[in-house]
Amino acid sequence: MRVMIVGSMSAELGEAARIAISRGAKITQADDVQPALAQLRAGRGSDVVLCDVQLGIEELIAAMAAERIAAPVIACGTRADAVRAAAAIRAGAREYLPLPPDAELIATMLETIGGDGRAPVAADPVMLAALRRAEQVAASEASVLIRGESGTGKEVMARHIHRRSRRAAGPFIAVNCAAIPENLLESELFGHEKGAFSGAIARRIGRFEAADGGTLLLDEISEMDVRLQAKLLRAIQEREIDRLGGSEPVKVNVRILATTNRPLEAEVRKGTFREDLYFRLNVVTLTVPPLRERPRDIAPLAEMFAHRYAEVNGLPYRPIAADAMRLLETQPWRGNVRELENTIHRAVLLAGGETIGPEAIELPLDDGATPAPATNGAVARVVAAAPAGTPTGLVGRTVADVERDLILETLTHCLGNRTHAAAILGISIRTLRNKLREYTAAGVKVPAAGLADRVPA
Ligand SMILES: Nc1ncnc2c1ncn2[C@@H]1O[C@H](COP(=O)(O)OP(=O)(O)OP(=O)(O)O)[C@@H](O)[C@H]1O
Ligand SMILES: [Mg+2]
Repeated sequence: MRVMIVGSMSAELGEAARIAISRGAKITQADDVQPALAQLRAGRGSDVVLCDVQLGIEELIAAMAAERIAAPVIACGTRADAVRAAAAIRAGAREYLPLPPDAELIATMLETIGGDGRAPVAADPVMLAALRRAEQVAASEASVLIRGESGTGKEVMARHIHRRSRRAAGPFIAVNCAAIPENLLESELFGHEKGAFSGAIARRIGRFEAADGGTLLLDEISEMDVRLQAKLLRAIQEREIDRLGGSEPVKVNVRILATTNRPLEAEVRKGTFREDLYFRLNVVTLTVPPLRERPRDIAPLAEMFAHRYAEVNGLPYRPIAADAMRLLETQPWRGNVRELENTIHRAVLLAGGETIGPEAIELPLDDGATPAPATNGAVARVVAAAPAGTPTGLVGRTVADVERDLILETLTHCLGNRTHAAAILGISIRTLRNKLREYTAAGVKVPAAGLADRVPA
């Protein structure tokens, strides 16, 4: 995870940086908005930008949008900066990080935005076989297509391949093709020259060049539009890229990994995915099995998450009781490892005794994409917040209706902070964003849109 700090390192922002470093983040720093933009253009990319609200954060966000630099910007400020913080959120800042920084909040933020450096946990023979296969192909230069349902650990696997490859000392750059709007994705991948489009006031190095000597992960490749697929194919075949508006191709030495949670063959048949690109990427296929097909992974994963979330929340570690573990081991886990992770995170917060007992395990609905029913901690908290004697009025309403109110109220409660709201709701930030997109499309007002929503089409 690469974090850019915009502002002085001597103040509280420096403390935030130190916390991020202790959680394994790599830090770059710029004193002000213009030098920060210069670094971003030069390809010293960043997975997230933390910017002091006292600086020209609106200007930074606007310039990044105009120059098609897609990284979330997080506004940082003290309580006294509340008005500026609100303005930053309106301008498109993804989150607001209150200063002095809270270690737990930073850890949650980093975790939500990017993966960590740990090796995959695996104990089930099915997963051990998948890992062996990954390690076998890691040393080669071959493109690898990583398949698997949502939340199975495809990105974890990609990072593992990189760490075990000869490129381990080089950069690992991930681009989520689904999360970046189409008009930004091309610049994001290939960069652009000054004047390539009206907002392009300077040259910008793309992710391909940033990944030079390392690995480029194209996450959710099936979401890439066909025109861009042609450019990608050329980049892979010719080992060179064209910056937008550039006249000379640029040589790049990059290994490509790609993930998909949809069968690409069907996309090829439909004509939405190029067959030649499919064959290029699919030199080796690696399938990350769903969690329900590797039940012996559940216990070690749950234990690992119990440790992690105790640490993240500053709580003493408590083991998972045997009956609670049996409960975990018999669930279908349609949301896979991510769903298990959320369940354990909640359990760590809810457990009362010396161990994590079954009463702390709140199981999600059957549909992994939907938050848990009324026994869920988040619902319980919202309901509990109503004045005593107020009827909750849930009966007679549809699940979708209650879910929408729950999500929007939680988001408002978190001042529009998606990371925090997703953590409280016990859903992934991706699920939250998808829901919010649905609501917006249906004409429902959603608090403070993020950067991606504000970029002109
Ligand atoms: N084997 C594993 N060991 C440790 N953590 C894991 C493992 N598999 C998954 N995780 C954790 O589960 C979560 C989901 O993993 P990841 O993001 O890699 O899944 P994904 O398949 O890329 O999901 P999506 O399709 O939604 O992008 C992450 O928080 C990751 O750290
Ligand atoms: Mg992923």
